[in-house]
Amino acid sequence: MDSSAPLLFDPLDLTAGGACLRLRNRIVLPAMVTRLSGEDGLVNGAIRDRYIRFAQGEPGMIVIEAMAVHASKSGPLLRISDDSFVPGLADLAKRMHDVSESKVAPQIIHFLKISRSGWRQKVADLTKKDIVDIREAYARAAERARRAGFDAVELHMAHAYTLSSFLSRRNLRPDEYGRTLENRLRLPSEVLSAVRAAVGDDFPVGIRFLAEECIKDGATTEETRWTALRFAQLGAAWLSLSNGGKFEDAVHKPGEPLYPYTGYSGDRCMPGRNYPDGANLPSAAAIRAFIRSQGFTVPIVATGKIHTQELAESVLRDRSADLVGMARPLLADPDLPRKWKNGDHDRVVGCVYSNVCKSLDESFQEVRCYLWPKGALHAPRSSDRTPPRWPAAGAAPRAEIVRGRVELAWNAAEDSEGVYGYDVERAAGAGAFERIYAVKSPRFHDESAAAGVCYWYRVRAYDFAGNRSPYSPEVSAEIPDLPLGGAAHRAASTT
Ligand SMILES: Cc1cc2nc3c(=O)[nH]c(=O)nc-3n(C[C@H](O)[C@H](O)[C@H](O)COP(=O)(O)O)c2cc1C
Repeated sequence: MDSSAPLLFDPLDLTAGGACLRLRNRIVLPAMVTRLSGEDGLVNGAIRDRYIRFAQGEPGMIVIEAMAVHASKSGPLLRISDDSFVPGLADLAKRMHDVSESKVAPQIIHFLKISRSGWRQKVADLTKKDIVDIREAYARAAERARRAGFDAVELHMAHAYTLSSFLSRRNLRPDEYGRTLENRLRLPSEVLSAVRAAVGDDFPVGIRFLAEECIKDGATTEETRWTALRFAQLGAAWLSLSNGGKFEDAVHKPGEPLYPYTGYSGDRCMPGRNYPDGANLPSAAAIRAFIRSQGFTVPIVATGKIHTQELAESVLRDRSADLVGMARPLLADPDLPRKWKNGDHDRVVGCVYSNVCKSLDESFQEVRCYLWPKGALHAPRSSDRTPPRWPAAGAAPRAEIVRGRVELAWNAAEDSEGVYGYDVERAAGAGAFERIYAVKSPRFHDESAAAGVCYWYRVRAYDFAGNRSPYSPEVSAEIPDLPLGGAAHRAASTT
């Protein structure tokens, strides 16, 4: 074992010129659009509350959701495209700093036009003047971020947005901004240099870009390691890696603008329940290894289904990355970093990757977590220490097989503040129990059980503070291995 590897709660210094920004731990909240701002793009009370809630959890760094550097129409999205946005952003930065030592960086974004017909503007449509305007808009927005009192700024060069589309292997512009790697790197490099010049040497500038485009003929780490090298050479303070999220394979819904997370590349960007944990770690590890081999120490942020401390620590130990990004897990429970630090692992409300948050983003609705209580605009907060309890009759879990799935039900638990949800755990045969989902009501349908395996289930209730009840008794169920008739039912046993 590598005893020199950092631990999750070790600090990390982001450097810029001679200056250094110390992150108190290695957990990063990557940018996550909330759709809480109005179409005016101003910081409002809901945005303030959402980010103060994140700050109270004390991650090392919070990247505030993408905010536009230009004035194009976009539905509810924060803006930093004009000096009039600075007072609201400055107030947000101050309030977050007042409650937390987390460092705060806004993510700044330029995007091209899209319409409900499915049409979208492409990089090939942009004139040289448009390109100069994009570069200047980024520089001015980054300078505003510094003036607003943020600790750093992140340039959005990932997913389906303008700079990512310039970097893309699908950028076939015939001039010096397309086709070859060097040409495709040109505008992103110019933007980084212009931003660096605008904010000064001592203000950290990070970049988010794609380790893999996850589309046909798209870039993989074979190419993106060179992109990473370029940004390291130009003095990026961190490189935050994402995967996918492209327009090229997006599925167009009639009458709706294209949403870049609807195709396969969208699945890879926000991997759902059907993806393994740490789904994007191999690409992060490949890029980090390459950058280190070239003598650069710029920290790498890896993100994508990292939600246990064990996995997060292994990311650092295996040198896959230097910082661990957790978006949906911190939406589900903003207090996760503080709970992990205090050893309160059992009180974390765990993301189940249902991607309800993503669907809300897609339809421009306020982004909430499926696990939160109905109607809640933010994650609940409580300092209660009394766990939920089972009723006098006990949890009494029941399982039956109905049409090829295991249907589980149990008695509702009780709690003085209210039961928030139930973890459902499953073991296959004599294997270990794993948490497979969480539900708000005392029932769950397991559609991922295979015939010929005896599954054991147990549940436990949790309250708003994340306190857990004792486990229910275990209950087993096995799908008969012969083809099932429509009405096939089978009794289950309880220990
Ligand atoms: C609702 C939602 C909004 C997102 N908005 C952004 C964004 O503004 N900028 C960005 O770079 N990534 C955005 N992402 C991607 C996340 O930062 C992250 O990379 C992704 O969710 C995978 O990480 P996770 O498994 O920890 O959630 C968003 C993700 C979600 C679910």
